[in-house]
Parts: sequence; C-alpha cells; structure tokens
Amino acid sequence: MNWDDTTGDTPTAPGTPAAPDDGGRLVGASADGEDQAVEAALRPKDLGEFIGQEKVREQLDLVLRAARARGATADHVLLSGAPGLGKTTLSMIIAAEMGAPIRITSGPAIQHAGDLAAILSSLQEGEVLFLDEIHRMSRPAEEMLYMAMEDFRVDVIVGKGPGATAIPLDLPPFTLVGATTRAGLLPPPLRDRFGFTAHMEFYEPAELERVVHRSAHLLDVDIDTAGAAEIAGRSRGTPRIANRLLRRVRDYAQVKADGLITREIAAAALKVYEVDARGLDRLDRAVLKALIELFGGGPVGLSTLSVAVGEERETVEEVAEPFLVREGLLARTPRGRIATPAAWAHLGLTPPPATPAGGSGSGGQQRLFGT
Ligand SMILES: Nc1ncnc2c1ncn2[C@@H]1O[C@H](COP(=O)(O)OP(=O)(O)O)[C@@H](O)[C@H]1O
Ligand SMILES: [Mg+2]
Repeated sequence: MNWDDTTGDTPTAPGTPAAPDDGGRLVGASADGEDQAVEAALRPKDLGEFIGQEKVREQLDLVLRAARARGATADHVLLSGAPGLGKTTLSMIIAAEMGAPIRITSGPAIQHAGDLAAILSSLQEGEVLFLDEIHRMSRPAEEMLYMAMEDFRVDVIVGKGPGATAIPLDLPPFTLVGATTRAGLLPPPLRDRFGFTAHMEFYEPAELERVVHRSAHLLDVDIDTAGAAEIAGRSRGTPRIANRLLRRVRDYAQVKADGLITREIAAAALKVYEVDARGLDRLDRAVLKALIELFGGGPVGLSTLSVAVGEERETVEEVAEPFLVREGLLARTPRGRIATPAAWAHLGLTPPPATPAGGSGSGGQQRLFGT
C-alpha cells in the first residue's frame, strides 16, 4: 500500500503541552490514579524480571555490567517509546542494577533552570536522575542540562541584567535517565549527549501473555492460559493496558463466576467494558463506523470526521488514530482519512463493489473522488 502519511509529528518547541487526555479510557495508555497505586507492586525489579524488549535488555545489560566492572557511573540513557511500555520501570531497574539511589522528576516540573540546578546540586555520587517527559523541559533548563551531562558542572546565574554573574558549580558524577514519548522532538544536542538510546517497541501478544500471568500471580488472581491470551490480545501491545484489563476482568470473575479467569470470562468481561477482540474501544469503533457508514470509507478530512464522531480534532487524531493506523485499519492520505478493507471486515461489513476488498483498497475511492 502506498498511502502517504502526511500527518507525522508536528515539530513543537520544548514546553509542549501534554497530549490530549484520553479521558480515563480502559484502553488508554497513560496511567490513571488506580494504575499508579497498583503499578508499584507490579513493576519488575531487575532486568531478569523485565519481559520482552530483548534487544534493549541485552544492550542495557552490557552498558550496566561494563560500568559496574569499571566501578564507574553508567552512561546517560535515553528511553523512548509510547506510554505504558516500561520506561519508568526500566529507569528504576537501572538504579537497582547499579545499586544506586534514584531521584524522579519530569520535564514539566522543571520550568526554570534554577529548579534543575537545585536538583542537580543535591545529587549524590552515582545517583540516577530520572527525567520523565524530557521533551517538555524549558529551553534554559535544557541548556543547563547539556553542560551537566557532559562536564558534570553547572553555571548558576546569580542576579539579573548586566550585573548577573555565573557561578560555576561542580556536580558529582550521576546517570541521567531521560524518558520521552516523542524522541523526534528532542533537540539533537540533547539527544547526542546520551551514551545509550533505547527504543521501546510495542509488545508481542506472547510477551503480553507473560506479563498478564506474572501480574495475576502477584495479585493472587487465578487465570488459565487461554484467559491470559484473551487479555493479551486486547491490550494493544502495551503492558500497562494488559495490567488494567486484567484488573477489570478479575472484578468480573469474582462477581459473576468463581474467580478463575478463562477465555469465556475474559471475553464476557471485556464485552461489558466495550473493548473488542482486537482491543478497540467505543471511540475507536465510532471513528471507523463514521468513516464507513457516513462517508463510504473516505477519504474524508479530519475536521469533518471529528464533528461526525462528536469529539475534538485532537482527540481523534492523537487518541484514536495512532492505534487504528498501527493496526492497518485506518490510513491518513493527502486527501483525508480512509478506512482500509480490514476496517470494513472488522466491523463485519463488506466494502461496496467500487472498493475492491483485499487489493490496494484506496483504488476504488480514487476513481470515485477523481484525482
Ligand atoms: N517488560 C515488562 N515486563 C513486565 N511488566 C511491565 C513491563 N513493562 C511495563 N510493565 C508494567 O507496565 C506498567 C507500566 O510501565 P511503566 O514503566 O510505568 O511505563 P512507561 O513509564 O513507559 O509509561 C507497570 O505496571 C509495569 O509493571
Ligand atoms: Mg512512565
């Protein structure tokens, strides 16, 4: 298929606002209050316990072992990947593997260079500084960070205007672990100062199955193999979602059955929560339905599609579409959004004869709308 994706990441300055809130969706990838409470208990504590991400694990293991053998502080590490894939978990594992304390903060929490100077100057030798959402730091803080990462030094500016003076301050060696969902937004000078960059991928169903089994064990929940597979298959490649679906299915199994999670129980529970066999929820299906039922499968512009669904443009574009595109259900083309033949099939519909199913998909549409 040669659908062009014209709507890539828009370059945005540091201090970018967060992505739109996913409104507490069951299949949303950001952590809600309940997740935060439970996640601490479910986090793998060392690299051996961390499931999947084989390449990242192998590479990180070498970086950390080598640093330990040299008796040195580990190189700065950048973790990039979608929400819920294990970035915070890995940062804690890095500290644990190095036997070092960890300090946790985030880009949006550091708006002034002074905030960063205060944190940096209070670090202990070898400490891990975890900077979440590092792409959302302010520019002055970012510039201070360059020097801190490279020379373990900061210039603290005292005073204002012509009378301001820079007081150099030496820092103990530390390991910066930066996490970002948008590696493309990091200025190259910052990216270049990381000794090691790990790109976290979405997880395979078999890996998520292991995540579900592991979490079920820790939460003291009974689940069989088919039940775990059913939850894994609906978790959108994301451990955080797998853990959350597991908790909802557990509730259902306790109330409606004897507590054991089987395939039937998992499917019935997730039907109640409107998460379908492929992990699409109500919003995802509403987007596909509007696209197909109101606009014959597209192409239709994002604004029109959003009005039809009754959601903000940003919600459709940033909350629903990435997963639909990733699953090959929706395509973004220069002329608008198109439902792929797989989307028709997923909704149990047959594309009209003008849209040959299987083949190039957009061919029929091109003739209909003429280009
Ligand atoms: N590889 C993994 N193995 C087991 N559990 C994982 C793994 N990655 C993430 N998790 C679980 O998923 C949840 C979200 O992980 P987290 O590190 O907070 O993601 P991120 O910081 O990337 O948003 C945590 O509860 C964690 O226990
Ligand atoms: Mg995190």
